[in-house]
Amino acid sequence: MKFFIDTANLAQIKEAHDLGILDGVTTNPSLMAKEGIKGEEAIMNHYKTICEIVDGDISAEVLSTEFNAIIAEGQKLAAIHPNIVVKVPMIRDGVKAIKWFTDNGIRTNCTLVFSAGQAILAAKAGAAMVSPFIGRIDDSNWDGVELIAQIANIFSIQGFKTEILAASIRSSLHIVKCAEAGADICTCPLDPILGMLKHPLTDIGLAKFLEDAKKM
Ligand code: G3P
Repeated sequence: MKFFIDTANLAQIKEAHDLGILDGVTTNPSLMAKEGIKGEEAIMNHYKTICEIVDGDISAEVLSTEFNAIIAEGQKLAAIHPNIVVKVPMIRDGVKAIKWFTDNGIRTNCTLVFSAGQAILAAKAGAAMVSPFIGRIDDSNWDGVELIAQIANIFSIQGFKTEILAASIRSSLHIVKCAEAGADICTCPLDPILGMLKHPLTDIGLAKFLEDAKKM
């Protein structure tokens, strides 16, 4: 399973990259706004900087919702760097645009996916990745991880090549459960990634080894 970091914060991107386990980055308009990135030029420059830090897939989200505007915006984003994956929302014009991008050699990540039906449509249109938002599904009293397993099963039966990118990850356990359910990629904030390092028995065991090492 690949690890992406889900943030537009450059310090956090660098920290995850320094750990040596980072395969890519996802952002969205909320995450960009949180970092105070405003205006087309600043947005483009921010994506460029992220591409310079991480040599992997970098999702850049379109803000348009109408077919022609999505295409124009996606082409601009894709021109920033070969690693840019154009992130397109799961709406009617979005599906049409994903098909157009696929036919024209631009990779896409279909975002805001909350059902297996939506994932099938995105895969049929040729999306490189499909992003089910598992934390938000949990918030609505459904099981986000179960959706990952369902999509993984369908894609395997049908031979779809679209990668399942588990998004809206809220905890280290989410990451483990998504790995178990067949996600190809997990995109997570930094804390759940670092949380996977921790176990109290590791700390106790290491303290004892270091203590005993003094007697060696
Ligand atoms: O990758 C999607 C993610 O940014 C949404 O996360 O926590 O806002 O549901 P959240």
